[in-house]
Amino acid sequence: MPTALIILAAGQGTRMNSDRPKVLHEVAGAPLLAHAMAAADALSAERTVIVAGHGAEAVQSAALAVDPEVLLAVQAEQLGTAHAVAQAAAALEGFEGDAIVLYADTPFIRPGTLAAMAEARARHSVVVLGFEPADPDRYGRLVMAGDTLDRIVEFKDASAAERAIPLCNSGVIAADCRLMFELIAEVGNDNAAGEYYLTDIVGLARARGLSAGVVVCDETETLGVNSRADLARAEDAFQARARAEALDKGVTLVAPDTVYFASDTIVGRDAVIEPYAMFGPGVTVESGARIRAFSHLEGCHVSRGAVVGPYARLRPGAELSEDVRVGNFVEVKNAQIAEGAKVNHLSYIGDATIGAAANIGAGTITCNYDGVFKHRTEIGAHAFIGSDTMLVAPVSVGAEAMTASGSVITGNVPDGALALGRARQENKPGLARKLFDRLRAQKAERKRD
Ligand code: UD1
Ligand code: CA
Repeated sequence: MPTALIILAAGQGTRMNSDRPKVLHEVAGAPLLAHAMAAADALSAERTVIVAGHGAEAVQSAALAVDPEVLLAVQAEQLGTAHAVAQAAAALEGFEGDAIVLYADTPFIRPGTLAAMAEARARHSVVVLGFEPADPDRYGRLVMAGDTLDRIVEFKDASAAERAIPLCNSGVIAADCRLMFELIAEVGNDNAAGEYYLTDIVGLARARGLSAGVVVCDETETLGVNSRADLARAEDAFQARARAEALDKGVTLVAPDTVYFASDTIVGRDAVIEPYAMFGPGVTVESGARIRAFSHLEGCHVSRGAVVGPYARLRPGAELSEDVRVGNFVEVKNAQIAEGAKVNHLSYIGDATIGAAANIGAGTITCNYDGVFKHRTEIGAHAFIGSDTMLVAPVSVGAEAMTASGSVITGNVPDGALALGRARQENKPGLARKLFDRLRAQKAERKRD
């Protein structure tokens, strides 16, 4: 059955107390909206529609950044969840199949749960995702009639007996797309909130003699984000899940609770992640690599057998081949480091290519920026860059070449050459002692004054 995903993202999120639309706040380095959109993969959705409202422009560009094929709808005024879904009608013109509604601020529904809902559609015209929270609070309640769902009653409209029902509405609803829009057209706003409730489509379907059913999931999946405290809890829940998955896949986490993953981090089997490693978006760490303590990685690739850190920073475009070493207080950005090369101490390597087995001495810096443009540095295989070399890009150092420590290299160095780019050393015999004597005498004089 072809599926379309409708993601509601129009709400303001007042309780976030933020200038940013709620759904653009991030968990694991990705906006809540992107997490919700990941459900499209799980459902192999043919179309995904984002219904934006508050901060619509920012929400739409964030959605397009995740998936350029996404369809956009706008709900100018927030008149309720049914009204929000109705705005997706134009984007779903001509679509035949199921529609499933998700909230962008409740983005952690598991793929298996969505699959169970799709499967339950074989038995029911409308399928609702329910859960039994420890504190049912102000959630809508699912009123059951035996095994089937009779209707959903919003907390504000519920009787005392209905409020006592433990089974709550998560907000996720699936139905045939055309039927959903037909039912929504019948929804009114004569209720305690004066809103068009999407939840009313259950009662309306039942009134047509159609059947409605419930799939129940764990409360952790329906965790909604309404405040910064909720956002922090969502981050916590996400990290707990990601760490458990990494451990299951055969990754060693020395102190799991101190490691932070991004939503898209990939770590291979037998990789070792030491305490306090932090992963931003776009990182792949291959099998058997080691990320040592307090390293920060984003947008980079670490190959088999490479060792990073402690205290290393890999920024976007850092490509480490097999057995590379990047040590403490080294920053790498937009640079390819070939097999077995070493950058072990206190360096900045940016916009560079480093050949296999090259050794980059402590304190080496690629001076890649002239204040306006960025320039590249090329270093050949087996080159030896002396400590504290400034490589003023654009510049190249050939294979098996050397630079003397403390050099400022402004011209290309041929293969096998030694480049010296520093003042020649001169020794003045006895001059240091003379200087000391003079300075100490001055100090003694000042004390007497
Ligand atoms: C809704 C459900 C309730 C359920 C709860 C779960 C309805 C009527 N009620 O209540 O049964 O228990 O979610 O969290 O559906 N939104 C729009 N446009 C609107 C209104 C809402 O885009 O006009 C979006 C919001 O941004 C939010 C989601 O829809 O992401 C839910 O809206 P919200 O106002 O939070 O609904 P609840 O009252 O919590
Ligand atoms: Ca809500």
